[in-house]
Amino acid sequence: MKKYVYPYKIFTNEKVMYHFNVDKLYITEVNNNHLDLLNKLAQFDYEEVQANILDEEQKQCLNDLIEFEMITDEQPNIKEPTVVCKPTSYRIVLTEQCNLACVECFATKNINCLKTMDSETLFEVLEYSFKNNNNKSTQYCFFGGEPLIKFDLIKEAVAKIEEAEKNHLVKNPVLLITTNGTILNDEIIDFFIDHNVRVGVSIDGPKEIHDKLRPYKDLRGTFDDVKENYMKMYNKGVNLHVLITPNPDFLGNLKDIVKYVLENFPMKELTINTPFKYDTLQWSVDGEKYAHILFDIYKLTQEFGVILDSALSVVLGSISNGIRRQTPCSILGDEFMTLVTPHGEMSRCAQKYDSQISLGNIKNVSVSDNCKNCYAYGFCGGVCPAYKVLSGMSTDSNKCKFMHAILPNLINYLKMFEETSDDLQ
Ligand SMILES: C[S@@+](CC[C@H](N)C(=O)[O-])C[C@H]1O[C@@H](n2cnc3c(N)ncnc32)[C@H](O)[C@@H]1O
Repeated sequence: MKKYVYPYKIFTNEKVMYHFNVDKLYITEVNNNHLDLLNKLAQFDYEEVQANILDEEQKQCLNDLIEFEMITDEQPNIKEPTVVCKPTSYRIVLTEQCNLACVECFATKNINCLKTMDSETLFEVLEYSFKNNNNKSTQYCFFGGEPLIKFDLIKEAVAKIEEAEKNHLVKNPVLLITTNGTILNDEIIDFFIDHNVRVGVSIDGPKEIHDKLRPYKDLRGTFDDVKENYMKMYNKGVNLHVLITPNPDFLGNLKDIVKYVLENFPMKELTINTPFKYDTLQWSVDGEKYAHILFDIYKLTQEFGVILDSALSVVLGSISNGIRRQTPCSILGDEFMTLVTPHGEMSRCAQKYDSQISLGNIKNVSVSDNCKNCYAYGFCGGVCPAYKVLSGMSTDSNKCKFMHAILPNLINYLKMFEETSDDLQ
């Protein structure tokens, strides 16, 4: 019977060799005998290799290859994604106006005339989401600019969503807001609690860094106000999390910045936004360095008992569950977050709208030629389709460097996980 070798990548960590099954995303420790057999199987039929096995050790190794699914009876067939994606998450830009003048803000940069949504457009967007939800839970994230400038619109939206839920037009809607944390009062805080709105507050570090990166329009620092409001929300029981956006200039200090924020802001979940260039969506940090830093931060957040949401999370989720990523925007292929502009236009990308990357213009996601033979494709999901259109490039070198730094680091993470489990026994 013919047997086939799965596409694989061998990598080492602390002199131990590992086999990564590119299709199944399995990682297995291997030795030179395994490698020798894999090489032979690439040239000769299984029966021939089996007939030439001389000793028990080699026999065991051949059994290992079958047991750990390094070889298979059927030709591995890695399918290209042809999924037509539907948004299950709506990032609604209620207004592009903001009361801050953040240094790297992608939302307001390069926009001359800042727009605001009206109730009619908002309702049209919500109706669209009710009609296209495939009976799945839908997430609504109020975004901006600063969404709390349009608190009246948030109240209208939440009333409409709750009514739709009662009428079974939408299932288990999740309400979220991302805010700079400067515009808050008791009415807003009570509203968050009464309507179970999850609140993400952007905090970019200790006072001296945060005030430099996230000042008011008159350049006064916002840190003290954000801290006071954050603690007020925390003490009243708002469902809170923090977002940190690393500034490429402070990347070397990111671990300390995160540590400071973890020590000073009580939270269950922390998001680290991957910084990117607004015009092309290109990652603006060195991918390899960023991967190492995020692994370190992952350990740190584990010590604090905080869940980390970062560029690493989807990759770890994909590998540890053996789920191939079909697109770079999600773990499972057919769901993603759309950015909705104040005019109601919907983007294929959660970060930016441009008519070239509207939902209508990017329907399917295909694999770039450069990615077809890349061992990392299964956990990377390929090139962002929006980046491809806007930059005209077939890969983002920083993102590729990030993905290629994952496997050896991941082994340390798995070791750490095993050690933690041993300690518990
Ligand atoms: C654009 S703001 C809008 C919501 C709100 N005004 C706030 O400050 O959170 C949302 C998040 O995007 C982040 N952000 C801004 N520019 C970015 C960029 N170039 N790359 C990655 N994230 C960025 C901000 O730091 C913030 O956490």
